[in-house]
Amino acid sequence: MRSLIVGTGSYSPAKVVTNADLEKLVDTTDQWIVERTGIRERHIAAPEEATSDLALHAARKALDQAGLDPKDVEMIAMGTVTADMPWPAAAAVLQGRLGNKKAFAFDVSAACAGSLYSLSIADQFIRSGRVKNALVLGADTLTRITDWTDRNTCILFGDGAGAMVLRPTDDDRRGVQSLHLHTDGALWPILHMPGGGSRNPISQKVVDEKSHYVKMNGREVYKVAVRALEESCREALGANGMTPGDVDFVIAHQANKRILDSTLERLGIPASKCWMNLEKYGNTSAASVPTTLDEAARAGWFTPGCSILVMAIGGGMAWGAGIIRW
Ligand code: COA
Repeated sequence: MRSLIVGTGSYSPAKVVTNADLEKLVDTTDQWIVERTGIRERHIAAPEEATSDLALHAARKALDQAGLDPKDVEMIAMGTVTADMPWPAAAAVLQGRLGNKKAFAFDVSAACAGSLYSLSIADQFIRSGRVKNALVLGADTLTRITDWTDRNTCILFGDGAGAMVLRPTDDDRRGVQSLHLHTDGALWPILHMPGGGSRNPISQKVVDEKSHYVKMNGREVYKVAVRALEESCREALGANGMTPGDVDFVIAHQANKRILDSTLERLGIPASKCWMNLEKYGNTSAASVPTTLDEAARAGWFTPGCSILVMAIGGGMAWGAGIIRW
């Protein structure tokens, strides 16, 4: 038994912020941002839009494509670190908005790797036979926790949501083949949000110190990302008896073009096999992988049974890679 992706959907908020717009906010240039990251613009949620609103659009598109009534979804797993409120889960809010009463719904906190973690959890439920219709999402509004005066971080992020519907298949040559997840919790200080949790509850001090925003050591994140992604991709390939040459397509978390280029180069996989969209969305955290998958699928990239190498890394540090056969 495997989990087959039978529907995908994504949503990007309407408002676009270009690098030229950012030049007016911080000391940066379009040229610097494009050269160091590959990003040209990003989409930003409207003031009244929260993460579950973005997720709702993506979920409806994925369910429509799967031909599945929202009421029949049995589980909802959402990767997010920017739920509508600290709790309940954005997935629970989404379940209510879908008019669904059947699904157990929860968020997964693995930052940019959140949708891969969620996919892996849902895959286990499908393989065990416990669930037949799973909705997996990645949705984030990172721009709500972005310090718009910090040029090290504000150039990177955008908002969005992506969704996948999973159903079981008896055809072992299709569906999720394996996913390999990793965490190195000693590395959390290089990418995190210090304020607003139980260690530093919301207070005037937290706000004054801007602890309610993303903090990042970009250079360290970069180094860890390239090493971790290469290792976990090799692990995923090895587990499936594959070499890099057997990979038809790559769907990767869109953090930084340089990170992806050098990971693919180390693996010996041509960059042309990797769907890129960070130029227009920036880093949309957990939304990135399902949004990228949705775009590539709707563009007709995949044929049944083709091999897709997936990979993501985010705060935690949390990362993973896997092989999906369409
Ligand atoms: N515009 C112009 N200059 C900038 C800048 C900006 N937006 N941000 C930083 N700089 C400056 C720095 O202050 C530094 O100046 P200095 O040499 O005078 O101190 C210089 O550019 C180089 O900074 P550095 O941090 O070494 O740049 P970098 O090449 O590492 O690129 C990142 C910075 C953030 C683009 C890069 O480290 C990166 O992509 N890291 C991974 C981030 C990421 O993907 N995070 C999410 C993971 S899910």
